Amino acid sequence: MKKFIEESAQFLKERGFEAPEIGIILGTGLGQFVDKVEIISSVSYNHIPNFPTATVEFHTGKLIYGTLGGKKVIVMQGRFHIYEGYTLRDVSYPVRVMNELGIKKLLISNAAGAINLNFKKGEIMLIEDHINLQGGSPLAFKGVEQLGSRFTDMSAPYDAEMRGILKDIAKTEGITLHEGVYASVVGPQLETRAEYRFLKIIGSDTVGMSTVPEVIVANHLDLPVAAVSVITDECDPENLAPVDIQDIMAAAGKAEPDMVTLFTQLIEKL
Ligand code: HPA
Repeated sequence: MKKFIEESAQFLKERGFEAPEIGIILGTGLGQFVDKVEIISSVSYNHIPNFPTATVEFHTGKLIYGTLGGKKVIVMQGRFHIYEGYTLRDVSYPVRVMNELGIKKLLISNAAGAINLNFKKGEIMLIEDHINLQGGSPLAFKGVEQLGSRFTDMSAPYDAEMRGILKDIAKTEGITLHEGVYASVVGPQLETRAEYRFLKIIGSDTVGMSTVPEVIVANHLDLPVAAVSVITDECDPENLAPVDIQDIMAAAGKAEPDMVTLFTQLIEKL
């Protein structure tokens, strides 16, 4: 795997991806952030050697390199999900490549349902901890110890310093920023009422279909990571309305400016 990662990184370096400081992974419906970036170079995932695209249907995502808030950043516009048929290793592969290119911090956003019913559609939750319900690990493969510790510590998976800065920004900007536990499921089907009850009982505040594999790999690489959930639906098992993906996208779009403010100012302050 090391050779593959180096090949992908070398290809990107040749296209100008030099010394990025911060990597950013944008969630479903949360691509507007890219408008803030002064783009220097941009490459379609399909063109990057060893990127997990060749085996699955055409993927429209792009890796973008540019400046924002005086920092060099790499932005993943579009991410890989296991519900598209990728493996946990595939979906977290770009994190390894960004790390190889030299990023020092990773920021992640996702669209998520609220299990904690104090959280409302269009609000944002800072992820403080997570529960992996995706049925596997992105670290479960032969040779993983060549890339980092096999038995990766997960006692504090989300960087405390960046969380503190994000909370300060939210306070100053008047943005409601909850804090809590994100549960990752495989999807792509939404949850049953019984599953929402289960998610509440086990201590989750939001649920979504991403983020956790990337965070596990960031911890494997000792790469500080911060992540937020944008609440796109409220998952009340006693009053469950059928979820409409268009509604989810619309709710993500509504909350997006707040997410952009949080990430933009965080990057300026790092
Ligand atoms: N469940 C799982 N994933 C989601 C949800 C949800 O309710 N909302 C947005 N992504």
